[in-house]
Amino acid sequence: AGTGKFFVGGNWKCNGSKDSISKLLTDLNSSTLESDVDVVVAPPFIYIDQVKNSLTDRIEIAAQNCWTGKGGAFTGEISAEQLKDIGCKWVVLGHSERRHVIGEDDQFIGKKAAYALSQGLGVMACIGELLEEREAGNTFDVCFQQLKAYADAVPSWDNIVIAYEPVWAIGTGKVATPQQAQEVHVAVRDWLSKNVSAEVASKTRIIYGGSVNGGNCAELAKEEDIDGFLVGGASLKGPEFATIVNSVA
Ligand code: G3P
Repeated sequence: AGTGKFFVGGNWKCNGSKDSISKLLTDLNSSTLESDVDVVVAPPFIYIDQVKNSLTDRIEIAAQNCWTGKGGAFTGEISAEQLKDIGCKWVVLGHSERRHVIGEDDQFIGKKAAYALSQGLGVMACIGELLEEREAGNTFDVCFQQLKAYADAVPSWDNIVIAYEPVWAIGTGKVATPQQAQEVHVAVRDWLSKNVSAEVASKTRIIYGGSVNGGNCAELAKEEDIDGFLVGGASLKGPEFATIVNSVA
């Protein structure tokens, strides 16, 4: 950790029910969280209102996706305006599951990011390579191409947190080593410096996601360029998520 305030997001993905979320909220509300950490949870859309009504204001709320522009005749979509209206401060965009399972491409994701920012949402902008891309030595190229799509679309990086999530580490229990993550985070910062500005490079938080848990978070958090985490599975357990939030201490 070295840039800005440590940032920990919990991406609940397509998990939970009214009952399980109610228990998770009780656990989160009673946990002690380091004050110097931004903490955000991303519930499925339909539970955001429940979370907003019962979760402590200490924790902010993100959506896991949003539409590319203003609402209207877009069946099944949710607009950035609607997310703001219901109390979201953030949105996760470009997640590998949306890229590789749903088929979203760089340009579509860039458009979403620009529109979400224009409506005052913060964006957790995800990037990350597939296992075969890493094995072919293309990790940096893949990440840079995804970064470029954001850079081409957004007017400012003020409200963006970059989430580096190597796809081979997501939900697999195979966490990147602190060195592997640090190496990519440094390369991302370097890319920002050369292609956006030195100021954006030095201010933008770069968080890591992929099998982060209560046992491995402290080692990862020690790395200079790991400025937080985006947590999947372990964010569904209140006490473990609190351990991850507090790992920067
Ligand atoms: O967005 C978080 C993520 O994809 C990591 O998931 O379950 O490996 O922590 P997980």
